[in-house]
Amino acid sequence: MTQDEMKKAAAVKALEYIENDTIVGVGTGSTVNYFIDALATMKNKITGAVSSSEESSKRLIAHGIEVFDLNSIDVLDVYVDGADEITKHMSMIKGGGAALTREKIVAAVAKKFICIADDSKRVDVLGDFPLPVEVIPMARSYVARELVKLGGDPVYRQGVITDNGNVILDVYNLSIIDPIQLEVNINAIVGVVTNGLFANRGADILVLGTEANVQVIEN
Ligand code: 5RP
Repeated sequence: MTQDEMKKAAAVKALEYIENDTIVGVGTGSTVNYFIDALATMKNKITGAVSSSEESSKRLIAHGIEVFDLNSIDVLDVYVDGADEITKHMSMIKGGGAALTREKIVAAVAKKFICIADDSKRVDVLGDFPLPVEVIPMARSYVARELVKLGGDPVYRQGVITDNGNVILDVYNLSIIDPIQLEVNINAIVGVVTNGLFANRGADILVLGTEANVQVIEN
């Protein structure tokens, strides 16, 4: 299977976790786009979706799937999203598509986080992929200096404004041995909205497209 075929196979498999008459939490990215397209095949069985980005909302609406405001939802059984990196402990780096904050919010509400990915995303240690950090624009330089103190090399993602009106710093060369603590430490920097480490709330299930098949790994 090609990388795109692995993404699609994982996305289609994730449909097995969607119950009738529920609202589905939907992430962002190319793997999730395959999931949204697959979800459209059962759109008459679900109530609708909560989305983590304007991009995903547009795609859901184009398929005729109703998108609900998260504030109007009490319970979200399942959140389906991709990852830029994921470990065997189900810690992830996310935010390659700059949607990390809304992704983290929807994931926090969901009972189950189902990560869909191709097997290039499996890593032993997080950090080869630069860690995205969403930052309030006026704090950009200050936050960058603080990230250098933590051992990283932050690079301003030029020309990108998040759905929340903020900017992204991509942090290179971090040695992420303790993702749970680093997630907390970076979020404690004033001006940081959130960072792309999903370790304190990692994935519950990984649906992984590999060359041979689709594997399901439970935490
Ligand atoms: C977007 C994300 C995506 O889930 C992540 O970047 C993976 O994307 P893709 O499925 O395109 O590889 O976190 O902010």
